Amino acid sequence: MVPNQEIAELLRWYVAMGIDEAIGDTPQDRFAAPPPRPAAEAAAAVAVAAPDAPPRPTMAAPIPAAVLPISNNVASARRLAEEATTLEELEAIVAAFDGCALRRTATNSVFADGTPHAPVLIIGEAPGADEDRVGKPFVGRSGQLLDRMLAAIGLDRQRDTYITNILFWRPPGNRKPTDDEVAACLPFVMRIIALSKPRFVVLCGGTATSAVLGRHEGITKLRGRWFDLAVPGLDQPIPVLTTYHPSFLLRTPGRKSESWRDFLEIQSKLLSK
Ligand code: URA
Repeated sequence: MVPNQEIAELLRWYVAMGIDEAIGDTPQDRFAAPPPRPAAEAAAAVAVAAPDAPPRPTMAAPIPAAVLPISNNVASARRLAEEATTLEELEAIVAAFDGCALRRTATNSVFADGTPHAPVLIIGEAPGADEDRVGKPFVGRSGQLLDRMLAAIGLDRQRDTYITNILFWRPPGNRKPTDDEVAACLPFVMRIIALSKPRFVVLCGGTATSAVLGRHEGITKLRGRWFDLAVPGLDQPIPVLTTYHPSFLLRTPGRKSESWRDFLEIQSKLLSK
């Protein structure tokens, strides 16, 4: 019998490693040795391997896209993203995309929420545990704060905005997205902008800002500023506003007044025709 303290320590270690959710009722040991092969099958394998047997041509096993060099995944993401002519098509392409390894550990793909073609497109970082479970962005605590901030400037999340993230799958343990993960998802994010054609985009947090704008000065320097973004497939550049991520505000409520100024910017931009 394992003492309770050891179990508690093991669980703490799991959580520290990002394993913070049970996704099935039955435990599965993925490191266990495979079951022994039936005798006839094993004998056939030995016969094939006999030294005087002519060598058999081997067929290369398909390589999962996520282990191909990242440039291949980015190139295929670009090609697939360009093929989509509607947001529905793009959502289906993203759900089937095999070039980001996070898809393997996620429960759901998290594409977008709100009204497609709404005037404001909000882009966050990546789904967390709640979003992964539900399959929609910003439904957890930071999403609730975002909803309240939008309501404070008279906007309804479902009616007035379209919301997505830089990544479509949850990074285990909510760790920071890697550069490769961002690179593999970015073509789809740019296509969301092109297909949803918002009046402007709001980038929440440093990850979204550096991914979309390619600026790395840090969000405290960049927040509250407007940029013009050239988007493949659109004739005109799209205005982009940078602001803090709601989860940063949950941890650092003293910064809410700066965000409030950014949200007033959103409001006045919407009122100006
Ligand atoms: N944080 C994000 O950036 N996006 C979500 O969808 C949820 C939390």
